[in-house]
Amino acid sequence: MEIFEKYVSKFDMTDEMIQLKYKHSLRVATLTKLIAQKLKMDDKNIALAYLCGLYHDIGSFMQIKKYHSLDDVTTVDHGDLGHKIFLNQLALKEDISPREESTIAKVIMYHNKLKVPSKLTDNQKEFLCLTRDADKIDILFQKVTIKGLITLDNTDVSKEVNDQFIKHEPIDYKLVKSETDKNILMLAYIFDLKYKESFKIIKDNKFLEKLQKKLSAKKYEVYFKILNEYIKENEKC
Ligand SMILES: [Fe+2]
Repeated sequence: MEIFEKYVSKFDMTDEMIQLKYKHSLRVATLTKLIAQKLKMDDKNIALAYLCGLYHDIGSFMQIKKYHSLDDVTTVDHGDLGHKIFLNQLALKEDISPREESTIAKVIMYHNKLKVPSKLTDNQKEFLCLTRDADKIDILFQKVTIKGLITLDNTDVSKEVNDQFIKHEPIDYKLVKSETDKNILMLAYIFDLKYKESFKIIKDNKFLEKLQKKLSAKKYEVYFKILNEYIKENEKC
C-alpha cells in the first residue's frame, strides 16, 4: 500500500482525473478483497486480490500525465503501460513471491482487454476475473454517483453495438460511434461479470435503477429489460 501511495504521490493530486483514478484504485482494491472474502479465499490470496485491485490501473496515472486522456484507442493501452511500470518500478519493492508478482502483472495487462485470454493459468484467471468484476462494478458506481460522467446525445444505438448486446457480449471500444453507443458499452459491462457476489452488489445497490433514471430515453428501455433478466438469472447460479 505504501509503495502504491509513494508512486501515486509523484503525480499532480490536484488534477481531477488523477484524483478520480486514485479513489477508483482504492475502491477497486477494497471490492476485490470483499469478493475474495466472499469466495472464502485464504488470507494470503485475499491480500493478493487486494494488490491486484490496487495496481490494476497503475498505467492510467502516466497516461493522464502524458495525454490528459483515458482514451486507450487514441493514446496508449493503459493495461500494457501499467504492466511495464509495475514490473520495472514497483514489483521488486512489494513483499511478494515471483508467482504473485506475475499474477499482478498479468491482471494489470489484461484487466482492460475485451476478453479473458485462454492462455493464462486458472489461478491467474481467477484473480483477473475478480479484478475485472470489481473494476466494472466501480465504474458503474462512478457513473451513478459522479455528475458529468454520462453524456447524452440524440443518436440511435449503432447496429454492431446492438448486435453484441443482444448476444450478451461485452462491446469492443472500436465499435463505438456515439455517446449513445458509449452508454450501451457501459451497460454491457454487466455481461463481463463472473461472480454471483458481483451481481448481488449490482442488485443490492440498485445500480440499474439509478442508471435508468439517468438514461431515461425510450431507446434505452429494451437494454435495461435485457439486463434485468440477465441479472436475475445470474445471481441465482
Ligand atoms: Fe483500467
